[in-house]
Amino acid sequence: MNNQNVKPAEGKLGIMVVGLGAVTSTFMTGVLMARKGLTKPVGSMTQYDKIRVGKGADKKYLPYSEIVPLTKLDDIVFGAWDVYPADAYRSAMYCEVLKEKDINPVKDELEKIVPMKAAFDKNFAKRLDGDNVKDCKTRWEMVEALREDIRRFKAENNCARIVVAWAASTEIYVPVYEPVHGTLAAFEQAMKDNDTEHIAPSMCYAYAALAEGAPFIMGAPNTTVDIPAMWELAEKTRMPIAGKDFKTGQTLVKSGFAPIIGTRCLGLNGWFSTNILGNRDGLVLDEPENFRTKEVSKLSTLESILVPEAQPDLYTDYYHKVRINYYPPRNDDKEGWDNIDIFGWMGYPMQIKINFLCRDSILAAPLLLDLCLLSDLAARAGRYGIQRFLSFYLKSPMYDYRTDEVPVNHLFQQYTMLKNAIREMGGYEADEEID
Ligand SMILES: NC(=O)c1ccc[n+]([C@@H]2O[C@H](COP(=O)([O-])OP(=O)(O)OC[C@H]3O[C@@H](n4cnc5c(N)ncnc54)[C@H](O)[C@@H]3O)[C@@H](O)[C@H]2O)c1
Repeated sequence: MNNQNVKPAEGKLGIMVVGLGAVTSTFMTGVLMARKGLTKPVGSMTQYDKIRVGKGADKKYLPYSEIVPLTKLDDIVFGAWDVYPADAYRSAMYCEVLKEKDINPVKDELEKIVPMKAAFDKNFAKRLDGDNVKDCKTRWEMVEALREDIRRFKAENNCARIVVAWAASTEIYVPVYEPVHGTLAAFEQAMKDNDTEHIAPSMCYAYAALAEGAPFIMGAPNTTVDIPAMWELAEKTRMPIAGKDFKTGQTLVKSGFAPIIGTRCLGLNGWFSTNILGNRDGLVLDEPENFRTKEVSKLSTLESILVPEAQPDLYTDYYHKVRINYYPPRNDDKEGWDNIDIFGWMGYPMQIKINFLCRDSILAAPLLLDLCLLSDLAARAGRYGIQRFLSFYLKSPMYDYRTDEVPVNHLFQQYTMLKNAIREMGGYEADEEID
């Protein structure tokens, strides 16, 4: 059953990624290799997962592409912006996530992905010093130059649709500032007045994408689309937005593990998470102002799963701490440690230790693919504004804080939201309760 209200995935989909670093080059290489049948898109739910549709005797488990019209990997065209001029091949080689033998078969295609000049402001990422940067006098000029890039890319590559995703470095923390971020009119005026304190370069990319009729995804913890002005723009342009921060390693474990403690009604005294990471992402996050953005995003996970107000005996005053330490020898191979101090029957304390030896970009690449394909689907289904069904993929899911809406961090509740949305877009009943 395919819902007639969802437009078909005809023609090419342009995936334009901000930042051509470790995550992006790993993502692009994997898609191009999979297209040639030289690798498998492991970890991508749009390529593997099956969802139940129908109930009782009528129930079937179908892959997403048999429920909704999804863009095929063969129909994707890649574009990117970066502060550094290296093409996708050089970037993949430099980042050392993948072995040369897994990059070389698609070398020619990767070399053709040359980053466009970045809309960049060094104050937002002090550790970066590339020169592939646009020369713009105001934030508004940045937006206009980016809009021009999107239009040109779309025409040159004969794309039917565009999705823009941020997989660039984490910017410094920009808290919501109502006089500028509260309404679209104020926000546009601030861009024209070149308010460089409250308008991050990432906001210019998001604005440009939405204005050009492209969904926007925030893969870093930047507050870019967490502001009412951007929600207003998404509504006006009827485009989907999703964010923020790919839920890859430690937070994925946290949002899947915390429900074990919660469902068994065990108590929590503290949760200490630390990581070592040696790639360029780790370098940027070594700057305290940039780490602050990440910290806020990572800390939000537990509060809505182990809720003090709901279970005061179990979850009052637990201590939650998150650290990231830049340690170059490990490069992209992140190691995370979690120490969880729980208590059980009659308050007796116990400890759980989790040691996750992961690969950051290997975990992030399939998320980027799924987020792009599902945002494109949402746009074709006429969904716009905050896409809560994509919370599953994100560390700090977006929600409208002006209403009594709360973010959903619980991994299995998020999965239910994802499944229900796919069912609905496929013309089936969204038949699972989120509980
Ligand atoms: N890998 C993961 O598991 C993971 C998880 C969650 C979030 N993230 C986030 O994804 C982002 C990318 O991670 P990565 O490991 O690929 O980092 P990376 O440093 O390898 O790549 C980021 C690239 O972005 C570029 N860049 C910075 N500002 C830019 C701008 N304004 N315009 C265009 N390009 C710009 C940098 O030059 C760099 O090449 C980071 O913000 C990271 O925090 C990654």
